[in-house]
Amino acid sequence: MCGIIAVTGSGAKVEILTTGLKRLEYRGYDSAGIITVDAAHGFTRYRVANGKTSLHELEQELEAASSNEILAGIGHTRWATHGGPTLFNAHPHLDCTEKIAIVHNGIVENFRELKEQLGHNGHLFSSETDTEVIAHLIEEQRPFCSSLLEAVQKASRLMRGAMSFVVMSLDDPTTLVGFKRMAPMMVASKGDTWFIASDIPAILDRADRFFQVEDENFVVVDPLGAKAFDENGSERDLVELHANWTLDAAERSGYDDFMSKEIFEQAASLRDTVVGRLDASQNLVLDEHLADTDLLARINKVFIVACGTSYHAGMVAKYAIEHWTKMPVELDISSEFRYRDPVVDERTLVVAVSQSGETLDTLAALHEAKNLGAQTLAVCNVVGSSMARLADSVLYTRAGPEVSVASTKTHTAQIGALMVLALHLARIKGQLYPQEVIDLYLELCELPNKIEEVLQVWDSVAALASRLSDKQRFYFIGRHVGYPVALEGALKLKEISYLPAEGYPAGELKHGPIAMLDEQAVVIVVATRTRLYEKIMSNVEEVRARKPFLVILGNQQDEGCITGSEEFIAVPRVHPLFAPIIDVIPLQMFAYHMAKSLGYDPDRPRNLAKTVTVE
Ligand code: F6R
Repeated sequence: MCGIIAVTGSGAKVEILTTGLKRLEYRGYDSAGIITVDAAHGFTRYRVANGKTSLHELEQELEAASSNEILAGIGHTRWATHGGPTLFNAHPHLDCTEKIAIVHNGIVENFRELKEQLGHNGHLFSSETDTEVIAHLIEEQRPFCSSLLEAVQKASRLMRGAMSFVVMSLDDPTTLVGFKRMAPMMVASKGDTWFIASDIPAILDRADRFFQVEDENFVVVDPLGAKAFDENGSERDLVELHANWTLDAAERSGYDDFMSKEIFEQAASLRDTVVGRLDASQNLVLDEHLADTDLLARINKVFIVACGTSYHAGMVAKYAIEHWTKMPVELDISSEFRYRDPVVDERTLVVAVSQSGETLDTLAALHEAKNLGAQTLAVCNVVGSSMARLADSVLYTRAGPEVSVASTKTHTAQIGALMVLALHLARIKGQLYPQEVIDLYLELCELPNKIEEVLQVWDSVAALASRLSDKQRFYFIGRHVGYPVALEGALKLKEISYLPAEGYPAGELKHGPIAMLDEQAVVIVVATRTRLYEKIMSNVEEVRARKPFLVILGNQQDEGCITGSEEFIAVPRVHPLFAPIIDVIPLQMFAYHMAKSLGYDPDRPRNLAKTVTVE
């Protein structure tokens, strides 16, 4: 959560900060603020805390100053954790002397005890945030240190929790010091203008070189360049990143919002993710740290860890991997995995699935898996993200930047990537013949064309949503791989329409949830042709008898299965294990159109931030 951008050097301007923050809006928008330093005035701070309009207001307030040249500046968009979304809690925060300014992402877990101690030492606080504690800690250390870096290093040793932050000091106004611990941070440059940011989109059109920062590392950035140091103070290399993301991909490009744009990008993002992924020997082409095929051949279990929408992609993968490889697959919500005693050893492949590659719960699960000796693979979208760096191997979803808080294109790309992984494992485990792998893989590569077909239901799903906009309760049901699709349909609707929605395995309805069905309920059935088609149609009869509003999502030739005023959403028929990629798309559209018909902005769901870097 929280977006950070900082700039120093000859090109530093106010507008770089405000534009960068707008591009980080998906990280949170409870409040926003910047602090700049210039030769005449020292620090100048602007903060706004008006929820969804914060960034817009900050931009308006600073319009006249936007081209002002500054020595350096830092900016922040906030998703509140410690302290409400008020103006006095908005970043940047200052120390008592108002010579040290800080923006921060993450949580200082022991901030209460640190704050108490600092209070005893005479520090006065002007916010309820954990962030302000960092400014005062650095202030305490500074007189005993030869540089701001040394003070930041000493302060960081006193704090627990995952965090990244950037500090500026009036003593050395062109120098930015950053610290990264299990929260995203990168460095970038163009000429002698240097940046620190939480995410690439913030500086995509400003910089031409991008560098990754390692965990527990500090960066010192000034107009002469950037240097990284580890916790012992030894200088470390800054490794250059090669992200082929374009600014166009991070802009709305004529769409009303990012969510609709990203829904329509799914054919391309799936194509980019799966095409070219198997080599001539049907081996998976990974992106980084090539996994040793001999090692993978020895694994006897797969464990998938993920959160939210990524978890639902992992759930689809469980069906495919078990079916094709005959290996057991366990699946866990990341935040549960690390606090129980998962049975994992060196013959287990732990797959972390994450759009951002930064979700703290999944990152911690990956750490835990490594500690337990497992082989690890990250399936993520952000190049050079923490998970990509930590895992033994990486399989990137090549979906480009996803800006909408509600994931769409990266979800279908994740399923595509995991299908290729499943096929690769099936081949090295000898469970599928090479030709079977090739045939299935070619079918997967054809799926983008089927997505183009599915995108045609946009208007009819819009009409359905407007017909149902006064309904209050939604149940999504499915069986087999239709079950994760149902879960994802319900999650999308909850996230952006705030409507009570549940996803269930259709066979489970009769064990309780069917009691909820009445004429006010809407039931959306994922009933495309899997092995369980007939069984789910029996479940449809059970549902129909309770007279809810029934919507069936089925294959084009099955349109005749509805009666009376029921609705049918027709999608093309594909291989049953690939069907979730197709079937989820109308449900994404449904959530989108419901949000719009209820007057909500799908890109800015309340209470949510795109990348959850807190526990
Ligand atoms: C839902 C959504 C979230 C994320 C979850 C994990 O639309 O986007 O549920 O899927 O927070 O995020 P990543 O995939 O970045 O680990």
